Amino acid sequence: MSNNRKEIDRRRTFGIISHPDAGKTTLTEKLLLYGGAIQQAGAVKARKAERYATSDWMAIEKERGISVTTSVMKFNYHDFEINLLDTPGHQDFSEDTYRVLTAVDSALMVIDSAKGVEPQTEKLMEVCRMRNTPIITFINKLDREGMMPLDILDDIEDKLQIECTPLSWPIGSGKRFRGVYNLYKKELHLFIPGQETSSRKGLVINDLSDSTLDEILGFQADELREDIELIEGAAEPFELDHYLSGSQTPVFFGSAINNFGVKEMLDALIEMAPPPGPRAAVTREVSPYEETFSGFAFKIQANMNLAHRDRIAFIRICSGKFTRGMKAVHHRIGKDVTFSNATIFMANERENVAEAYPGDIIGIHNHGTIKIGDTFSEKEPLQFRGIPNFAPEFFKKVILKNPMRTKHLQKGLTQLAEEGVVQVFRPVVRNEYILGAVGRLQFDITMHRLKSEYGVDAVYESVDYNVARWIECDDPAKLEDFENKNITDIARDAEGSRAYLTTSEWQLGYQMKQWPEIEFYKTREINDNERSRISLR
Ligand code: G4P
Repeated sequence: MSNNRKEIDRRRTFGIISHPDAGKTTLTEKLLLYGGAIQQAGAVKARKAERYATSDWMAIEKERGISVTTSVMKFNYHDFEINLLDTPGHQDFSEDTYRVLTAVDSALMVIDSAKGVEPQTEKLMEVCRMRNTPIITFINKLDREGMMPLDILDDIEDKLQIECTPLSWPIGSGKRFRGVYNLYKKELHLFIPGQETSSRKGLVINDLSDSTLDEILGFQADELREDIELIEGAAEPFELDHYLSGSQTPVFFGSAINNFGVKEMLDALIEMAPPPGPRAAVTREVSPYEETFSGFAFKIQANMNLAHRDRIAFIRICSGKFTRGMKAVHHRIGKDVTFSNATIFMANERENVAEAYPGDIIGIHNHGTIKIGDTFSEKEPLQFRGIPNFAPEFFKKVILKNPMRTKHLQKGLTQLAEEGVVQVFRPVVRNEYILGAVGRLQFDITMHRLKSEYGVDAVYESVDYNVARWIECDDPAKLEDFENKNITDIARDAEGSRAYLTTSEWQLGYQMKQWPEIEFYKTREINDNERSRISLR
């Protein structure tokens, strides 16, 4: 076994899932403050603003006041090395947002106490469910009037199909918010509006009938007692195994902007959240403790610096140890690559990395040789699984203005598809390019980049598609039959996989009934010729 074990076990790599405005940026900032990674609140937002200036197409972000890039932030907390993978939080999110969750070991779900579960959280949760990612929940904005805590838990259980187990419990909310009672540490944390309370120690109250509680909370002491009695009867007790298998989520209440309840949640996260675990490759499972290095690319970010036309591939290390200057095999192209210049993303800066361990994310500069899903390893050929394309929900046809640029369009779309910017479908009976995306913003970025990087002047035309599924069947004759009968709606994606495009979920449901032998997949494994889909239907 590897002597890297200590380094691996002290790593926590997680992402935050939330709907826009739930408080993800604010919470991230507080987490980074605890890690000493930033000196003052506001730095994350400021950094986002600064980043806008770094590239041309990111002007789109600036124009629309959003962030489309996914960043990685590394910080230390106590003895732990934390990698926080940021998921862009706008309505128009992209596949990147989904895919970043394939590189984490756990997730933190932020919910606005006034809104409960919102649509984007539901979508991100679907992705977590594919790998049974353990999830800790933070219910935010308790300083405002919101839903009743029990109603929020019901909403989560109902919409997200995950068992909730509160580990802290709020005392009132809005103007009557007095703090939280930490159920597993049996500590009372008082909230004082406008005051930084995070550095104070909680008051240990083992027995809730203790009269100190009445002295501090007045009539709200009895409210708390009743609430706790109720939840102790109603909610399932916390079981680490259930959390780790993704079937139960421990819940914390607080207020990110007031830095209240954040530290308790972070303390629980480092204690409970799993360190980097084994990863499935096509041939076998890879343990993080193996001696030799392996990792996969889950995100490509282009034009970090327009002057150099560079791209950074974000690589999640899965086993062994990375050292500067090491060699690994780039299996898709069958070549050795030397990692002479890898970047590690600290919260406030980028550093040249000398060594890194499983769970860490490193950035490798390249000029288009790395695509999403590529695996690198020192020894045997490996192909990690679980890095998917997600069925697009928006579609557009590309119309080239100048037919002489067909080759450039082709090249541009191929590369942008490899980077995961957009998905490209070619109908089998029409010479067309249909682009598919999970968020509309991907179209703007694609067009912008086609023009600025490939000199392609094109426009979009709408198409009557709203749903896509990859199709397969054990019986090739059946598949052919299905394709022939629906030939105008059959396409091939950028990797030649068969897809069926259609107008509505209803129409899809109808086809699924008519053709029970055909498998309709919502995700498709990138670079995987084997049949190893990770989710059905
Ligand atoms: P996001 O990244 O999930 O989109 O959310 P973000 O942190 O930007 O927070 C969205 C809004 O909610 C912000 O207000 C933020 O200040 C506020 N907020 C975050 N946490 C809390 C909390 O615990 N209590 C209350 N009352 N508000 C909170 P904004 O007005 O949109 O932006 P700003 O002007 O404050 O930056």
